[in-house]
Amino acid sequence: MTLPMAVPAADLPARVRIHEVGARDGLQNEKSAVPTEVKAEFIRRLADAGLTTIEATSFVHPKWVPQLADAEDLFPRVRDLSGVALPVLVPNRRGLDRALALGARRVAVFASATESFAKANLNRTVDESLAVFDPVVRQAKEAGAHVRGYVSMCFGDPWEGAVPLHQVVRVCRALRDMGCDELSLGDTIGVATPGHVLGLLSLLNEEGVPTNVVGVHFHDTYGQALANTYAALEHGVTTVDASAGGLGGCPFAKSATGNLATEDLVWMLQGLGIDTGVDLGRLTATSVWMAGQLGRPSPSRTVRALSHQE
Ligand code: HMG
Ligand code: MG
Repeated sequence: MTLPMAVPAADLPARVRIHEVGARDGLQNEKSAVPTEVKAEFIRRLADAGLTTIEATSFVHPKWVPQLADAEDLFPRVRDLSGVALPVLVPNRRGLDRALALGARRVAVFASATESFAKANLNRTVDESLAVFDPVVRQAKEAGAHVRGYVSMCFGDPWEGAVPLHQVVRVCRALRDMGCDELSLGDTIGVATPGHVLGLLSLLNEEGVPTNVVGVHFHDTYGQALANTYAALEHGVTTVDASAGGLGGCPFAKSATGNLATEDLVWMLQGLGIDTGVDLGRLTATSVWMAGQLGRPSPSRTVRALSHQE
């Protein structure tokens, strides 16, 4: 069987936009250096499989994330792909200038709901990092760019444990007030469960953040990512982050594993009759190819099932 039988469920969105993060979140965590041309080919193949939002790389400090130090070389190789938005991460003014100079049209700042991760990831407190982002978001908007605001550690933090919802909402609101067009709620270490997801989405609504500007970003450490996604869909979320083949993690949060695998997500969405525009066969072939480049099999259950790797 190469596709699930489509049996729609009531009250779910008709279409979901997948924000593919494999080339960024996936490859930022690789131990060995992936050649720039392999990254470019990965992005081209993802586009060929029908993904229309493909996070390409990060313009961060090359010493902090050496895996993505080739951003200047990579981005021009893919920026002209037609019909594909290629967001890039920018941690500060320097990163934004680098991205805009190469013609980036979509950028993402990345905040944290917790002090520990803000320090580990950005070398700043939460408020210091928000103060850095404020002029970055403004300048990006003035340049006509679309801005995403990530919030990490929304559901739990490896150093601080449980994260109070109001702490998450405060950072979300600050990013919206700066002018971020959309937010992405990061479960960086994959500890969320569906009720928790619904609780955060409801509180965001109560505090004036509408669901149509919110995407979800689940890492799959505890195998909850699909269940959490289903809960988010029921709440009306239509933007879901995922990583081809389940690549991923975060070098600054050791307990983070890969993101929700795009193939696992597409299998579920196709089964629900929800349109994504993605060709599951081509996507799986891409992840199998990438697994060959990285020298290990994909952790995605769907990739394994469809490619008979086990
Ligand atoms: P810092 O050391 O505090 O930087 O790092 P600084 O502002 O003090 O500057 C020090 C030097 O770095 C200066 O150079 C700057 O010019 C240079 P000098 O004057 O000494 O020669 N510099 C830069 N160079 C190139 N590009 C830049 C840049 N910025 C400063 N953009 C900094 C602060 C934010 C730069 C650093 O902490 C950093 O790059 N962090 C990035 C961390 C990262 O990429 N983490 C992974 C992405 S987040 C994630 O994965 C979570 C997510 O997936 C959601 C989820 O799962 O929750 C999004
Ligand atoms: Mg992530």
